[in-house]
Amino acid sequence: MESGVLVGFEYEQEVKLRCISCGLEYEPNPRLTRCPRCGGLLDVEVKPSTELSWSLWSSRKPGVWRYRELLPAAKGSTPVSMGEGATPLVRLGRLAERIGAERVYVKHEGQNPTGSFKDRGMTVAVTLAKAAGARAVVVASTGNTAASVSAYAARAGLKSIVVVPQGKTALGKLGQSILYGADVVEIQGSFDDALSAVMKAVEEDYRLYPLNSFNPWRLEGQKTLAYEIAESLGDAPDWVIVPVGNAGNISAIWKGFRELYQHGLISRLPRMAGVQAEGAAPLARAWERGLNRPLFVDRPETIATAIRIGHPVNWPKALTAVRESRGVFVKVSDDEIMWAQIALARLEGIGVEPASAASIAGLRKLLSKEVISPDEIVVAVLTGHSLKDPEAMLRAPTRRILARNPEDAVSKVLGLVEIELGKDPTPSTRQLEEVCTNT
Ligand code: F0G
Repeated sequence: MESGVLVGFEYEQEVKLRCISCGLEYEPNPRLTRCPRCGGLLDVEVKPSTELSWSLWSSRKPGVWRYRELLPAAKGSTPVSMGEGATPLVRLGRLAERIGAERVYVKHEGQNPTGSFKDRGMTVAVTLAKAAGARAVVVASTGNTAASVSAYAARAGLKSIVVVPQGKTALGKLGQSILYGADVVEIQGSFDDALSAVMKAVEEDYRLYPLNSFNPWRLEGQKTLAYEIAESLGDAPDWVIVPVGNAGNISAIWKGFRELYQHGLISRLPRMAGVQAEGAAPLARAWERGLNRPLFVDRPETIATAIRIGHPVNWPKALTAVRESRGVFVKVSDDEIMWAQIALARLEGIGVEPASAASIAGLRKLLSKEVISPDEIVVAVLTGHSLKDPEAMLRAPTRRILARNPEDAVSKVLGLVEIELGKDPTPSTRQLEEVCTNT
């Protein structure tokens, strides 16, 4: 099963595979995840054999596979699926008002089966990997990809190996990989070190199938996020805001919108805003300086561990997405991320992990810089659930009071009723500084 050996792999639709760097076209072999000639990123193109329409899709169950005419599905294969996608698009009320925006929606990807958007890609890529005869899958991860791969591999009966940064992987994510039965390699290094290790391992042993986002088959599943947004709103919004780490998701979402536009299913395209954390902002820093290449970061650091990435592998696709869409990259501080995480929770009741809150922090910044205007329709993608990172949740400032016995508890509760009723529930700058300096 070496790359190239699997010829004549049959798909439900016509599928093309092309290198975005050297332009060479290949047989659409799912074993091909990088260009064999130049090492560049590959791009998949699915050409549906039927005319597409929203009514064709709306008659089916919601979720990733509703859009199967635009997905690379192996002929006759049954999807390795557990109802991924179909996440709610929630309109913000109190938080939108607070930051001065009129129509903000959040796409709550934390409601996927393993709690992040990764499941959209995994259902497609693991289904293909299985159909192509893979036995073991491998990923480098800041945690969510690992959790998702572990779950989908378990469901498909494949072995999974995950490589994660030691001490920098949120507890919930690590726990998921362990529970789902992955072998876990904790590397004393960053995500970028983990990814280069995985790329080398894959070259050494062809039995290992890589599921990182340089794998273009996986990104095909992630583009369904765009389809769902457009289907819910009836067209594209003005802006889509996405936290950026390895830069696969923003590329996939943009691809999804472009396809809908090409098939005449939306009347316009959104502008894409990519948000990075200040200490891990190779694309946002390059964007500020008008450069064509990222300013790579060798020691990325941020409380948003999911996007603690200095060498994003999908940067060429992400840069194209932001350029083509007349969008922006922007960076936000850890304080701004914390504020957004707590504000989403306390003004809207929506719990996300820090990396996901970066999209709200980015929106707030872009509104204040007047890049986004208050009357524009904005969708912020909330990429992962708050339960992923219990330690981050526990850092949010609040009153935690010990009661020595039931009577004491009664008196403590009564003592709390009147305190600061109706007060602003979001943390002050001073509180945030305390949290971030103690992290
Ligand atoms: N938000 C969350 C919660 C993530 O887990 C990630 C990426 C991103 C945003 C950024 O997405 O990499 O496509 O730009 N997490 C990867 C992982 C790196 O290993 O779980 P991206």
